[in-house]
Amino acid sequence: MHSFMHRLNNLVTFAAVLLAVLCAAASFLDAFNSPSVHAHAEVIKINRFRKQLSGNDEASLTLNISMDLRSLFTWNTKQVFIFLAAEYETSKNSLNQISLWDHIVPDKDHAEFQAQVANKYPLIDQGSNLRGKKFELVLHWHVMPRTGRMIQDKMAVSSFYLPEAYT
Ligand SMILES: *[C@@H]1O[C@H](CO)[C@@H](O)[C@H](O)[C@H]1NC(C)=O
Repeated sequence: MHSFMHRLNNLVTFAAVLLAVLCAAASFLDAFNSPSVHAHAEVIKINRFRKQLSGNDEASLTLNISMDLRSLFTWNTKQVFIFLAAEYETSKNSLNQISLWDHIVPDKDHAEFQAQVANKYPLIDQGSNLRGKKFELVLHWHVMPRTGRMIQDKMAVSSFYLPEAYT
């Protein structure tokens, strides 16, 4: 009996050590996987641009998005969360960042796609600063691993100007 418990204990200890080693290896390998993300997104249409009754500018857009995120998927990748942000400057804030669209990529088979989408979230300013304003479209991605820490990165994909007049 004693010997059985002793052996069981050894086995459990061995399993725990093995798991720790595998987790460390997974994080280590991730650090050496330098992914190359190919992405393009641009505004192809301004559907509406107006000042709300509250006084804040609001725009809705159609985006043409294409990306290849397959390189972000390793055996340690659970899923990838992406969002496309419109980033712009105003006198009040040096960086205004508004998420226009987001998506969860569940696996490598769904990591390459092309789509035309309307903004999921409205582009609303804190005020009426958007006429003629220049924006950068920035793709952000968060790689959620099975083990280890989350990796986040971003890349600017294009820029656009809102018109000088409301539609
Ligand atoms: C959308 O993007 C794809 C791939 O970049 C391109 O082939 C297509 O012509 C674009 N469509 C429009 C309407 O701009």
